[in-house]
Amino acid sequence: MPDPEQSKIAAPTPAGLAEAPPKRVHIKSYGCQMNVHDAERMADVLSGEGYVTTEDSAEADLVILNTCHIREKASEKVYSELGRLRVTKTAREAEGKQTMIAVAGCVAQAEGAEIIRRQQAVDIVVGPQSYHRLPDLVRSAQGRKAIDTEFPEEDKFSYLPPPSAKRLMTRGPSAFLTVQEGCDKFCAFCVVPFTRGAETSRAMPAILEEARQMVAAGVREIMLLGQNVNAYHGADAAGGTADLARLFEALSAIDGLERLRYATSHPCDMQTSLIEAHRDNSKLMPYLHLPVQSGSDRILKAMNRRHTRDFYARIIADVRAARPDIALSSDFIVGFPGETDQDFEDTMALVRETGFAAAYSFKYSPRPGTKSAEGADDVPEAVKNARLQALQALLMEQQNAFNRATIGRTLEVLFEKPGRHAGQVTGKSPYLQAVHIDAGSPEAARALIGTIAKVEIIELSSNSLHARLVSPEAKGGRAA
Ligand code: 5AD
Ligand code: SF4
Repeated sequence: MPDPEQSKIAAPTPAGLAEAPPKRVHIKSYGCQMNVHDAERMADVLSGEGYVTTEDSAEADLVILNTCHIREKASEKVYSELGRLRVTKTAREAEGKQTMIAVAGCVAQAEGAEIIRRQQAVDIVVGPQSYHRLPDLVRSAQGRKAIDTEFPEEDKFSYLPPPSAKRLMTRGPSAFLTVQEGCDKFCAFCVVPFTRGAETSRAMPAILEEARQMVAAGVREIMLLGQNVNAYHGADAAGGTADLARLFEALSAIDGLERLRYATSHPCDMQTSLIEAHRDNSKLMPYLHLPVQSGSDRILKAMNRRHTRDFYARIIADVRAARPDIALSSDFIVGFPGETDQDFEDTMALVRETGFAAAYSFKYSPRPGTKSAEGADDVPEAVKNARLQALQALLMEQQNAFNRATIGRTLEVLFEKPGRHAGQVTGKSPYLQAVHIDAGSPEAARALIGTIAKVEIIELSSNSLHARLVSPEAKGGRAA
């Protein structure tokens, strides 16, 4: 409920007086792409309240930590950061400045009031489904703590203001759009079904409207986000239900929207229609992030992944038949309880047989409330470390091989931002590789941003491909 004290924050500047300096918000995000996007939407909702964003937490009137609960390390980072923020808050207080500290995201959802018990400097705790209520929470946190970790009945997206064209422009031509949230899969190791709630899909008309606004502001590529995005089944305008392939089809009809991507997916939801979309929909980029976690049937079963290693291999074969050049990416966990040397070897073998263009791999971390945390975390730390190292070396080898294989090829790149050196511009290939070129001058580099152009890949530098422009005429850009 709004507090009478809210007038302190909401009061307009009296006529004739100098305008008050803008309120500043600093948002720090941890974890997945969904969190990065949620942070953007928090900035949007707060800009309606007069907040401008700042990179410097020491000059912020409001600091938001948008947290990740997926592994213990990520979760614990929050408390060390909060310790540092408490010092800043006290120092600013001595200068007569107020600092409000908010904890948002999945740690907020999982730990709620416990966060304030551990760190008294925290004023607001807000879960990932409630951040559209941030303006109210900021008002009611004047002089007392405000906690909102409900799964509200209202859909936050209906309450979030659409980002202005200006804000979208500053974020570049590649943008995120959340179409699905939550997960019903309950993998034995994973907190997501608890922190993000049950699987829900947004209705297709609202998504299309949001996409059109983004494209009108200059967006050329949209990455559809969801914790289990390929389970998407949103209402369509005719009272039916659309799957992800149909959503892609409808999005593809938007003029000026050139590229579509999606993350992240579960193998069991990799339907035929989606696999066919990789064959038929030219705007859908040839990249698939499909976490497998392990190559051992025994471990997959213990993880409650609901599929076998063979099933995964069949899906990959089907996807490759539909789109032979597709770049594959995955997530792996090593050291899951009970994982033997043989189980780990099965994972290594799966990686060798599949061939990945990119991948993320993690040591198992028991998380409170999950099924696997009920048992022992019985793989010794040294074994986990050795397995992670071996797996990452193999995955890195594959990633380098994939990148090297594109040398000499001509690829289309969507240029996103200036490169590290003056006159350089960087962007992404269809395979999500970072590619940079020397445009000649900072002006020429800027003019390329938002355009898709053909480049020839010349060489592989440490974490990016170096290329040269081959088609002077670029398509689909603001500057074209
Ligand atoms: N321990 C280690 N890794 C985890 N992941 C999810 N939960 C855990 C955990 N408890 C990894 C999975 C998932 C990715 C987002 O994070 O690989 O796909
Ligand atoms: Fe977590 Fe993904 Fe499994 Fe859902 S499908 S429980 S988000 S790992």
